[in-house]
Formats: sequence, structure tokens, C-alpha cells
Amino acid sequence: MKRYSRITGTGSFLPTRRLTNADLVAELATKGVETSDEWIVERTGIRARHFASDGVHSSDLGLEAAKMALQAAGRVAQDIDLIIVATSTPDMVFPSTACILQNKLGANGCAAFDVQAVCSGFVYALAVADSMIQTGAAKCALVVGAEVFSRILDFKDRTTCVLFGDGAGAVVLEASETPGILASDLHADGKHVGILCVPGHVSGGGILGDPLLKMDGQAVFKLAVGLLESAARATLAKANLTEADIDWLVPHQANIRIMQSTARKLKLSMDKVVVTVDQHGNTSAASIPLALDAAVRSGQVKPGQTLLLEGVGGGFTWGALLVIL
Ligand code: UT7
Repeated sequence: MKRYSRITGTGSFLPTRRLTNADLVAELATKGVETSDEWIVERTGIRARHFASDGVHSSDLGLEAAKMALQAAGRVAQDIDLIIVATSTPDMVFPSTACILQNKLGANGCAAFDVQAVCSGFVYALAVADSMIQTGAAKCALVVGAEVFSRILDFKDRTTCVLFGDGAGAVVLEASETPGILASDLHADGKHVGILCVPGHVSGGGILGDPLLKMDGQAVFKLAVGLLESAARATLAKANLTEADIDWLVPHQANIRIMQSTARKLKLSMDKVVVTVDQHGNTSAASIPLALDAAVRSGQVKPGQTLLLEGVGGGFTWGALLVIL
């Protein structure tokens, strides 16, 4: 009998410090950076984001999301045999944030590692966990997307600092005789490294190069729209399904215009798209599990429905995953 993986619980966590566009615009004005609520809303759909306090790390946000997901799944930390954390803002250079989270959770002993695929990270992590469950390497996985992007933002660069936020989302993924994850499709093209990156690195006790996020927004936008459509279609084809079978699109929450464009290409109305970018901003690898948990807890997304998750980000990386909740 084929072995599948199923999502049995979701959770998420946002830091308490919430900045509306008005709050951020006022804060940036004190640094001589000019922007406006109108520009941010019109170009991105973002109205607010959350920033973690000093000393709060990705593992702290991930821990709260993980506890919620475990509770929803009716599991305890000791049931987990695999932890994968998707993050580009790890607590340390090493060890992995997954190891730090594992210790905070008290799930010591299970396999734990990070996946670094920037904003596609959660889709990558979920696809890896699914493969490990299908092969029998794991049976109860905790998959987390956790980020503190506020730490790598250049608050003098208005083209990027208004876009991102902090947060975490998590799912418990368990072996099952019934599907579950139906198909996934992952890609990367390293020739686009320069359009979205944090170019600096640690060397000799200091940071060499720029430690803050750089993005050519227009280049990312143009690539994202086409790649998200192709990943969605490839994933549907692998599962022998069509756009008409999708109950909900749960996209990476970067920009409402990218989501609208993807929905249009897939002939989905926007009332089939889970949207949280307005309240969370772009939380990179955390954005999809944050959106998923919000939709599950509000009752928007229901058990038995078919969801298409899709992400795109630095690398360049992109991917999609089809799952029956
Ligand atoms: O998560 C990973 C994936 N990332 C993404 O998906 C991001 C993809 N890119 C985008 O979402 C959009 O390209 C942005 C939201 C980043 C930018 O939107 P855009 O419509 O592409 O704007 P633009 O870069 O063409 O800039 C238009 C104008 C420029 O002024 P001029 O040259 O026309 O006079 C910018 O200087 O808007 C100006 N501008 C701003 N104005 C006020 C750029 N940022 C701001 C700002 N406030 N914050």
C-alpha cells in the first residue's frame, strides 16, 4: 500500500510589535526616508507587518508556532522524528535553527536540519519531509517556516524595507494510508543570484560585504509571475488534476499583484486565494504556513479541500505543492 503524508495540525506566531504603514512611514520619516501608505498599499497590498523585539530569534517564533501545530495535531514533542526549519534568518551561522528549536521543544534525538531556499523555503521543506515520510525515513515531521527579516532590512532603502515582516508558521506532517500531499515541483536557477540576495558573509570575526537585503523588485516580479504559473501547472499535471480541482491557492505572500496575476493565469477567482499579505507583509519562508494556519483557524479552508501552495524567492528558487487537507 502506498504511503502518503498528511498535514495533521497547523500553527503560527507573530511577534507582538505590529507596525501599520502609518507607523512605519512615521518611523522612516525620522531617518529622512520618504514613503507613504498609499504607495505601499497600491504597489503591494501590504497594510501592516510585525517586527520581533531585540533578542527574539527565528527559533523563538518557530517554537510558538510549533507548539500550536502539535496541539492541533494531538501530538507531543516526543512524537516528532524529524524537524525541518525553512529560514534565511537563522539564529546562528551554525548549528541549524532546527537543532536550536528541537532543544527548546524537548524533542531531542530526532533528525533536525534547516532548508535554505529563501521565500520558497517552506514549499521545499514540506516536499523534503513528504519524501522522507514516503520512503519510511520519518513518520511524524514538524515542518516550520520562521523568519526575522527585520534584522536584514536596510531601513534607508524604501524599495525594500516597507515590504517585509517577521513571523513563523508550522505544520505537523504524518504518515498516512490516505493522501495528503499529492505532488510537488521544485526548481532553482542560480544565474539569478544577484536579483534578490544578502551578499555579505562572515569572515575573520567580522562581516565582509553588505549584510542587508538587496532586491531588484521589477526583475523578481517579472520572473515570479511566469515561474509560479509553470510550477503550478507542473504540479497539477503530476497529480493528474486541473485548475478546476483547486479549492484554495495558498501562495507566498509577497505582493497582492503577483497573487492576482497567478490567480488570473490559473483561472481562479480571488475568493479562492488565501491572502494575509495585507496583515503580515512578506515574511519569506514563514508566509505560506502563516497564511495556511490563518485560513485553517478562521474556517476559511476546510478538511478534505485541495490546496495549492506555491513559493518563489531568492536563489532564484520556486516551487509548488498540492495537498488535500
Ligand atoms: O519574496 C520574494 C519575492 N519578492 C517579490 O515578489 C517582490 C517582487 N517585486 C515587487 O513586489 C515590486 O516590484 C515592488 C513592490 C518591490 C516595487 O513595485 P513596482 O511597481 O515594481 O515599483 P518600481 O520599483 O517600478 O518603482 C516605481 C516608483 C519608483 O519611482 P520612479 O523611478 O518611478 O520615480 C520608485 O523609486 O516607486 C518608487 N518607490 C517608492 N515610492 C514610495 C519605490 N519604493 C517606494 C516606496 N515609497 N517605498
